[in-house]
Amino acid sequence: MAGKILIVDDERDMLVLLERIISEETDHELITEANPFRALELFKERPFDLLISDLKMPKMDGIKLLDEVRKISPEVSVIILTAYATIETAVEAIQKGAYDYLTKPFRRERILLTIDKVMKWQEMVRENRALRQALAEKCAPSSLAGSTPVMRDIFERIQQVASTTATVLITGASGTGKELVARAIHQNSSRSSKKLVTVNCTAIPEQVIESELFGHVRGAFTGAWKDKKGLVEEAHEGTLFLDEIGDMGTLMQTKLLRLLQEGEYKPVGGVVTKRADLRFIAATNHNLKEDIKEKRFREDLYYRLNVIRFDLPPLSERKEDIPLLSYHFLKKYSRLNQKDIRGISPSAMQGLLTRDFPGNVRELENIIERGVIFCQTDTLQVKDLFLDDERPAFFPDPDQGISRLSFRKAKDKMIRAFHEQYIQLLLRESNGNISKAAELAGIQRQYLHRLMKEAGIDAKSFKQK
Ligand SMILES: Nc1ncnc2c1ncn2[C@@H]1O[C@H](COP(=O)(O)OP(=O)(O)OP(=O)(O)O)[C@@H](O)[C@H]1O
Ligand SMILES: [Mg+2]
Repeated sequence: MAGKILIVDDERDMLVLLERIISEETDHELITEANPFRALELFKERPFDLLISDLKMPKMDGIKLLDEVRKISPEVSVIILTAYATIETAVEAIQKGAYDYLTKPFRRERILLTIDKVMKWQEMVRENRALRQALAEKCAPSSLAGSTPVMRDIFERIQQVASTTATVLITGASGTGKELVARAIHQNSSRSSKKLVTVNCTAIPEQVIESELFGHVRGAFTGAWKDKKGLVEEAHEGTLFLDEIGDMGTLMQTKLLRLLQEGEYKPVGGVVTKRADLRFIAATNHNLKEDIKEKRFREDLYYRLNVIRFDLPPLSERKEDIPLLSYHFLKKYSRLNQKDIRGISPSAMQGLLTRDFPGNVRELENIIERGVIFCQTDTLQVKDLFLDDERPAFFPDPDQGISRLSFRKAKDKMIRAFHEQYIQLLLRESNGNISKAAELAGIQRQYLHRLMKEAGIDAKSFKQK
């Protein structure tokens, strides 16, 4: 298989010689570079399978280059060339993880043979990674990705728990995958042919949640023209997913407790008690223990829900999953956007690995989605990810108190923030060229112009001087 090779040597003659030998005998892709600093830059942009580097170079020697390259691209193989073949330098290079060293002058066959061995090794590494990924995906229920021990444990428990009807409580910070876990439990259960009905306790106002859940009879309140079925009835024989349960008011908590304990409920305004056969799953990003102390959450309800517990760790505590998740989303959004983006450059990956991700997996997903949209090559580059953007993508700062606004005001605010940030990204990408920005966004130029005016954005400030 053809691989990618970078050759670094301050002697041009050496570069020419090596290039000739390798390109005559193999079909590997070759880049030669006399300046080790520029070589490092190249590594940040694209992956290589093999680095062949001279040992003695004026500004940065081969061992130092090897060290630096390893930080960016841990899996690249390195061959060191040296005219000063002392045992010490050779040993040092091998200790630092070089694959081999060759002494100048070298024989043509020797270099070709070594390259051949490296490429076979690289292919094995790749196959191994693909196998590991396939295995991780196979163990994970449907759309969940992750290969860290803590996530593997969660996947395993999902399978075990799914076959029971035990009530499940899923906790974890925002964007850690609570809803995905709830779906996976339902899909893997014997109820999967029936419905999974989600009740979003935050979105439904206190006054209507009871009738939403339990339904109502005709004439129960003004506007109740006829009997209406509730979500509980809709979920009969399936799963009821109580999302954001921490936001449910205490009055409703009491009624829910009865449903959990007795399997019984009464539609609003009704006299007949109804029964439902349900599997309950609840999720929250609240610390319910705290809520109990503050009397916002019923302790008895907590113990009813907390039969089986999944606590999803924040992404910053399972950074080893970042590459797998990134590729998972890369595949998903490349397909959705009909683009053929295959890779993530080492420095882009490095940027992702060193990020904190307060928004957890959702934040990573948003970054990759936006990256795919802006990416112009077959590899996501660090510039496509806009990692230095101070504001988290597409959202106003959390301290603006969005949760204290009415739904309509909050939505307006989010949309304005989205327009503003999206347009800025577009203009930055197109160097302030409005036509090009409109084309990138797939909207009319006039429409973009109007949005810019509304958001008070001037294209001039994005033009590069
Ligand atoms: N392990 C995972 N594998 C693949 N995608 C994931 C994973 N975890 C989360 N996601 C994705 O991240 C996004 C957020 O996940 P989800 O909605 O399940 O989070 P949540 O914990 O319910 O967040 P919130 O508390 O904000 O409601 C979704 O688009 C989901 O598909
Ligand atoms: Mg959720």
